[in-house]
Amino acid sequence: MANVHILNHPLIQHKITLIRDNSTGAKEFRELVDELALLMTYEVTRDLPLGEVEIHTPIKRTRSNVISGKKLTVVPILRAGLGMVDGVLKLIPAAKVGHVGLYRDPETLEPVEYYCKLPKDLEEREFIVVDPMLATGGSASAAISFIKQRGGTNIKFVCLVAAPEGVDKMAKDHPDVDIYTASLDEKLNEDGYIVPGLGDAGDRLYGTK
Ligand code: PRP
Ligand code: URA
Repeated sequence: MANVHILNHPLIQHKITLIRDNSTGAKEFRELVDELALLMTYEVTRDLPLGEVEIHTPIKRTRSNVISGKKLTVVPILRAGLGMVDGVLKLIPAAKVGHVGLYRDPETLEPVEYYCKLPKDLEEREFIVVDPMLATGGSASAAISFIKQRGGTNIKFVCLVAAPEGVDKMAKDHPDVDIYTASLDEKLNEDGYIVPGLGDAGDRLYGTK
């Protein structure tokens, strides 16, 4: 499937199994989402461009690598995406954080917008949009459209679990956006939940069910 990267690192796969498990409580679930976001950020940033700077080691003057290119912004899709932000920031502490607030209408499954706050210089930035779940793809597609409407062009999407339906929608709406996921699951059920999935990510993160 075009533009989808499945991150098969054993630590990522092990932790995904733990968060899928129904007996994992909110505290452990939050910790695992944080750790997964950090591990996935390591993989997602593999292609960042490098430049050289001159430094002085205790021994001699030398040239050494630093990350160059566009400044990074992480954009969580509220609310469940918030659970992934700290994990990204642990590896990219200088990143700015934009927020897009969307919830999925339980009847229509269409995304409803309630908040959008992004940095100003969007053209100058690379975006990493985070949300644990890519189900119908409505929320991710809408969030990425907000960023593009305001001038963003360089965008990656990172989720923990994806459904084929969401991947197809993203490929249709945003073929330029690479998707990084720990798992491509079987399908959606009649209520729009990912099968086997992990249930409602927001509710499991924040203990609201
Ligand atoms: C969940 C999830 C995604 C969305 C995925 O959020 O965190 O944002 O559903 O579904 P989709 O691909 O079909 O759009 P939800 O709407 O439950 O809101 P919450 O994060 O506030 O719980
Ligand atoms: N949102 C979730 O939190 N879980 C799903 O399986 C689908 C949408």
